[in-house]
Amino acid sequence: MKDIQSYINEHKDRFLNELIELLKIPSISADSAYKADILKTAETVKTSLEKAGCDRVKICQTDGNPIVYGEKIIDKALPTVLVYGHYDVQPADPIDLWDSPPFEPVIKKTELHPHGAIFGRGSCDDKGQMYMHVKALEFMTSTNQLPCNVKFMIEGEEEVGSPNLSIFVKNNQEKLKNDVILISDTGMIANDVPSITTGLRGLSYVEVEVTGPNRDLHSGLYGGAVANPINILTKMIASLHDDNNHITIPGFYDKVEELSKEERAEMAKAPFNLENYKKALNIEAVYGETGYATNERNSIRPTLDVNGIWGGYIGEGAKTVIASKAYAKISMRLVPHQDWKEITELFTKHFTSIAPKGVTVKVKPHHGGQGYVTPIDGIEYQAASKAYEDTFGKVPIPQRSGGSIPIVSLFEQELKSKTILMGFGLDSDAIHSPNEHFGIFNFLKGIETIPLFYKYFTELSK
Ligand code: BES
Ligand code: MN
Ligand code: MN
Repeated sequence: MKDIQSYINEHKDRFLNELIELLKIPSISADSAYKADILKTAETVKTSLEKAGCDRVKICQTDGNPIVYGEKIIDKALPTVLVYGHYDVQPADPIDLWDSPPFEPVIKKTELHPHGAIFGRGSCDDKGQMYMHVKALEFMTSTNQLPCNVKFMIEGEEEVGSPNLSIFVKNNQEKLKNDVILISDTGMIANDVPSITTGLRGLSYVEVEVTGPNRDLHSGLYGGAVANPINILTKMIASLHDDNNHITIPGFYDKVEELSKEERAEMAKAPFNLENYKKALNIEAVYGETGYATNERNSIRPTLDVNGIWGGYIGEGAKTVIASKAYAKISMRLVPHQDWKEITELFTKHFTSIAPKGVTVKVKPHHGGQGYVTPIDGIEYQAASKAYEDTFGKVPIPQRSGGSIPIVSLFEQELKSKTILMGFGLDSDAIHSPNEHFGIFNFLKGIETIPLFYKYFTELSK
């Protein structure tokens, strides 16, 4: 597209400063103490869309955090791209492990980001990636090169399972009507190995509670004679994987999509260096399901992981006690065709059935969602692929991701349109972790590549 390089060069410092201002607002959706910051962030996003040339920008109230909506309709006969992103972020804890405060962004160089990266919560997930779209729009409107219609829908509850977005989508089908949904909330293989995300895993998230005696007991007077809920819980959890690291829940694999030899051979071609992988994580060996490679284990295979476990005495020193209760939070990442509600039921049934007499077990389902696979023969994939080829000088590799954006399958169900996942982050950007960052190269490459997607998608739609 005309002058995109020079436009970015001329305005990049302003782009970065605007993003830094956005990152300063702690829009943590998991903690209601940040409600005012959530609203302030929604306002900032609204203003940025207006400045970028969007019309009818509105803050749409929901029962939770508001959704920012805006559109630029240039001609009803042209295709419409719906951009989705989220302005909420994960909590910053553990704060002590950040090298600089999470909401005071700084730019630093790293080995993988020699041109510098912005450090701050939300820099990559998803404020930085969402803002690339706002700046891409600014470029297209200010240089009169917007080739099609565009709608923006930026939500504030993605990190807590989008409880209100599904209602909004169901109630606004006409307003949200589109030809393709465009999302930058995933990653790519490396800065010199562009890739397009072609799959997301589904998710079932549960919390379990094991109760033994009706009160905490002296571990000498009662130890050995009653079931200790923490001992029992850990034993139950351990039994959920067998020696091959297969999940033991009956029926768990029944609907798992098995990839063909050819598809797996194709996947194995994606560049992956096991030594570097281990080195970056300071681990001696990888660990996982027998019979699958690392990049299969974390994308096309379902998993079960404990995310948190607690109970009993965890204060300073020692306290001899058998706790009355023990708890754990467990996530299961799912693959295409596994139904998250069905898996939640299978888990619940199995987990309660393996509890020994002497304890009671409760399973509380949290959020969940379906996985997603993008076809690579559709025009949205072709358009994205051409756009990357122009800006990276290489054909991007299709790659399934292990992460989840549960709302994507709902988009397909309700709006009947496909989603294209043009993510520009790296797995090493530490999303959800301390020292989250986003490469300046990646931020600017995104701004450069997005308008080309619009261009090719419009051309291929004819
Ligand atoms: N942007 C991530 C998902 C993601 C990241 C997908 C990188 C692929 C590559 C999103 O914000 C996220 O964190 N999703 C959650 C699920 C949600 C229901 C809380 C996840 O994957 O844990
Ligand atoms: Mn995200
Ligand atoms: Mn996230």
